[in-house]
Amino acid sequence: ATKKAWDLLESGSSSLDAVEQGCMIEEADVNNQSVGKGGLPDRDGNVTLDACIMNSKGDCGSVVYLKNITHAISVARKIMEETPHVMLAGVGAEKFAYSLGYKKEKLLTDKSRLDWLDWKLKSEYKPIINIENHDTIGMLAIDKNGDISGGCTTSGLAYKMSGRVGDSPIIGSGLFIDNEVGGAVATGLGEEVVKTVGSFLVVELMRNGYSPQKACEEAIRRIVSKKNSNYKDFQVGYIAINKSGETGSYSIHDGFSMTKYENNLNKTFKSNYYSG
Ligand code: GLY
Repeated sequence: ATKKAWDLLESGSSSLDAVEQGCMIEEADVNNQSVGKGGLPDRDGNVTLDACIMNSKGDCGSVVYLKNITHAISVARKIMEETPHVMLAGVGAEKFAYSLGYKKEKLLTDKSRLDWLDWKLKSEYKPIINIENHDTIGMLAIDKNGDISGGCTTSGLAYKMSGRVGDSPIIGSGLFIDNEVGGAVATGLGEEVVKTVGSFLVVELMRNGYSPQKACEEAIRRIVSKKNSNYKDFQVGYIAINKSGETGSYSIHDGFSMTKYENNLNKTFKSNYYSG
């Protein structure tokens, strides 16, 4: 994803094109079981996708509970660009995608169906720490004009309740961009990100002088220091970028990583973490 985004940025494309097409790489990868096609289904066996995208002008688009279409990120972009709305959900979102020419696809692969059948034997419902190693993809990019965009796409928590929506399509929670300041994106247990409006918080902290790294750390601290926080049982991670191109990443537990493509180097970093 980062390689694709970098190639586009190098050839002068916008940060919006870069994050959309980067995210599409993971959505199409059937071996990635938490994004796009091949994603693990909800407890009833349905694969439902959530995604959002935000550009440097502060426009945004979001798609929620989308079935049968692989490229949720592109549908989110079209919602931003071609409708008067920010968010479309469920059947309406799917109908909108067909009106754009998208074809109905089967998103549940044999592997994900077998994993789901296996899960059903116990039907135990609890988030698994570091399933986030292959969770939601969140991308932030800054282009040659210095404009920042972000995208976020996921099939959500594996074996979630039917109808469950996480943080990824919620502007301000899963993703937030302010072109004057920077951008942030979240991964991990969406419920905990929504409760602290995590990505907006990271950007606001940067506006108030925090570095991207310190802003991610403070946003994680807000989650773990909540009264009765059971953070030992779940993972959340943030990545952030500011207007100068400085970046940061931080998570609650070990196992969260960020990939950064800069100056022709595509590098994956293990994130620092809280763990407590
Ligand atoms: N962060 C993805 C989700 O909770 O759905």
